[in-house]
Amino acid sequence: MKLSNRIITIDRTPLFFGNDALSSIDRFLRLTHHDMHGITESGLDDHSANCGKEIFILVDPNTRKYCLPLLQEKSGILAKAAVVEIEGGENSKSLATAEKIWNRLLEAGAGRNSLLVNLGGGVVSDLGGFVAAGYKRGIDYINVPTSLMGQADAAIGGKTAVNLGHIKNQVGFFHAAKAVFIFPGFLKTLPREHLRSGLAEIIKSVLISDGALWRRLLKHPVEELLRQPADSRLWLNLISGTVKFKNRVVMNDYRERKLRKVLNFGHTVGHALEGFSIMRSGNPVLHGDAVAAGMVCAAYLSYKKAGLALADLETITTYLADGFPAFPVDVLHKQAIMQLMMHDKKRHDGHLQFTLITKPGSPVINISCEEDEIMEALTSLTGWGTLSG
Ligand SMILES: NC(=O)c1ccc[n+]([C@@H]2O[C@H](COP(=O)([O-])OP(=O)(O)OC[C@H]3O[C@@H](n4cnc5c(N)ncnc54)[C@H](O)[C@@H]3O)[C@@H](O)[C@H]2O)c1
Repeated sequence: MKLSNRIITIDRTPLFFGNDALSSIDRFLRLTHHDMHGITESGLDDHSANCGKEIFILVDPNTRKYCLPLLQEKSGILAKAAVVEIEGGENSKSLATAEKIWNRLLEAGAGRNSLLVNLGGGVVSDLGGFVAAGYKRGIDYINVPTSLMGQADAAIGGKTAVNLGHIKNQVGFFHAAKAVFIFPGFLKTLPREHLRSGLAEIIKSVLISDGALWRRLLKHPVEELLRQPADSRLWLNLISGTVKFKNRVVMNDYRERKLRKVLNFGHTVGHALEGFSIMRSGNPVLHGDAVAAGMVCAAYLSYKKAGLALADLETITTYLADGFPAFPVDVLHKQAIMQLMMHDKKRHDGHLQFTLITKPGSPVINISCEEDEIMEALTSLTGWGTLSG
């Protein structure tokens, strides 16, 4: 399917979305990085043998194998860029990996005008954005997200971070990308569980923004959505709707003073579950799977504290429980998960604050919840699938 390239300009970061998105990269680089030595109308000029030093592409092993060849086929400029590879997975979102990349940049002679191109999922864009924000007090970067999580969420909005041990996103910067290029065709090689993980963020976006769309989504169980080709019109519509919604929110509240907190629906518990899985086995659950479980808890708290109807609670819980793996929360684990939540930035006056919904499509922020209420919400996970406790 051919879709025309669209540009949605948000917070001065242009977003190129669609099947032509990659074709815009060279034009964008020529227009915006004219101060970067060696970039001319025809690509790189002859006498700038060192211009390759100016652009670095950050990849993990999968994005190097599945996405880099296509990116370099579409961009003559990026075909000559240096490639920096990290190990894949959440454990790479660390200060140790950031330090390794900084050293690589330094050894390669990267300067203030260098550009980092983050080609990968949310791990690569969070980490690469963090590295760019810190290197020589800040260099430019662009995101080319390749996972559904990256395309629908992580690559947009300028939040960058690494984890501290098992606590998610504890060190980071707001450092907006110079541009984001979203090419849904990359999703064809994305493993199914990662497609499901990204879908969790799309469901979150629907639950906090659009009650009518939520009712339509209910007719398409997660399993059915995952059977559709990743570059089908259905997925394109879901991704572009989520991108537009996130953009609207970020544009109105870049630094998360107020409105942006709506995006945290399901994340206070979700981040703690991710952290807990790292602590317990060193092997984190997928971010979206943790967020799906977090949304079950947030729906329960919404029912208790924000007037969500029981029927809506049941529908949300059933839809998520049918589509996402159970998270094994044992009675004994709940205290550890609580502790992780207490480190979360959404704490206020000793109480944890949650983003909840009064009904699908209507979020409310800063709802303080007591420990026993949160414990009850975690208990709602134990009735899900094969959970123990
Ligand atoms: N900054 C934000 O606003 C924001 C928002 C949401 C999530 N996040 C972060 O995003 C991270 C999760 O992102 P993720 O789920 O993309 O994880 P990820 O980056 O680890 O990617 C998932 C897996 O898919 C592989 N992959 C990526 N694209 C591929 C492709 N096209 N073909 C084949 N394999 C491919 C990767 O190598 C990896 O193994 C979490 O750390 C989360 O905290 C950040």
